[in-house]
Amino acid sequence: MTMNIEKLLGSPRSTLVEKVIQENRRDRTILFSRDVFSREPKPGQFAMVWIPGVDEVPMSVSYCGEDFAGLTVRPVGPATEALAALKRGDLIGIRGPFGNGFVATAQVPLIVGGGIGMAPLRLLVHEFANMGVESDVVIAARKSDELLFAEELQSLARSGVRVHVATDDGSMGVKGLATDVVQELLTAHHFDMIYTCGPEKMMVSLWRLAMNKGIDIAASLERYMKCGCGLCGSCALDPTGDLVCIQGPVFTGEQLSRIKEFGVYSRDSTGVRIPL
Ligand SMILES: Cc1cc2nc3c(=O)[nH]c(=O)nc-3n(C[C@H](O)[C@H](O)[C@H](O)COP(=O)(O)OP(=O)(O)OC[C@H]3O[C@@H](n4cnc5c(N)ncnc54)[C@H](O)[C@@H]3O)c2cc1C
Ligand code: FES
Repeated sequence: MTMNIEKLLGSPRSTLVEKVIQENRRDRTILFSRDVFSREPKPGQFAMVWIPGVDEVPMSVSYCGEDFAGLTVRPVGPATEALAALKRGDLIGIRGPFGNGFVATAQVPLIVGGGIGMAPLRLLVHEFANMGVESDVVIAARKSDELLFAEELQSLARSGVRVHVATDDGSMGVKGLATDVVQELLTAHHFDMIYTCGPEKMMVSLWRLAMNKGIDIAASLERYMKCGCGLCGSCALDPTGDLVCIQGPVFTGEQLSRIKEFGVYSRDSTGVRIPL
């Protein structure tokens, strides 16, 4: 049997940056032709993004319209700084989309994003709004100028999107953590699913809250990725061996309860454990 290597690698394609959006003080969205994707990206799926001369790194698909798709970048190191510095007309390479993504099956969804973790959740919020399903969206950041998509998603109030903001320093919304807002929402309302992405410690707290309340949860994990498509094993989780790039990045509450490293450690590019 011959393996279709191009399909496995996610049909690598180069494309030009069409537009750059400054989302807040730090984060930028890079828009490019939607046609580079081998198939329609689903909310929560990611792409392997090649920055010529720098690196290739995983990035969630945060925008997908008829013409353009986009990635929202938080500059934290060499690759993300180079990506965030790109301008209209610069060249990038895209493979994907990869991973399972979020499935918008909930009737009463609670969506919780911490920091850059809002990137994979943006399309999910839009999908629920387009389906006519009301949603509560908790957007948390350290301070107001690091909030992602808060204004844009507040403008979807007529489509049933209720945005709740939390900042560590109280510069906007509730002063406190995303989990403080979630605890209040869970006391006052019924939800049938929590969708989340953000710092892993936050997701562990949400997973515990969800388990205690008997609510399903779908959490998107980040692990070091080299191939993005199941070849290298660098994103394997202990002890299940699940690959974040194939079985994830989104895991259910039941799967998370079997992943012993969830909230405890991840691994660097050489496989060495890094405590979270
Ligand atoms: C599925 C997935 C989706 C992601 N989506 C986004 C997104 O939408 N926006 C965004 O800004 N970031 C996203 N990230 C994180 C992003 O890939 C890393 O921040 C980036 O690779 C850092 O590279 P660097 O050279 O800038 O920084 P470095 O200084 O090299 O690393 C900074 C941190 O990123 C981690 N990292 C470095 N390289 C990789 C890699 N190849 N794979 C995974 N982690 C790595 C390092 O372990 C370290 O913790 C995502 C990661 C994953 C796994
Ligand atoms: S990144 Fe290579 S197997 Fe997941």
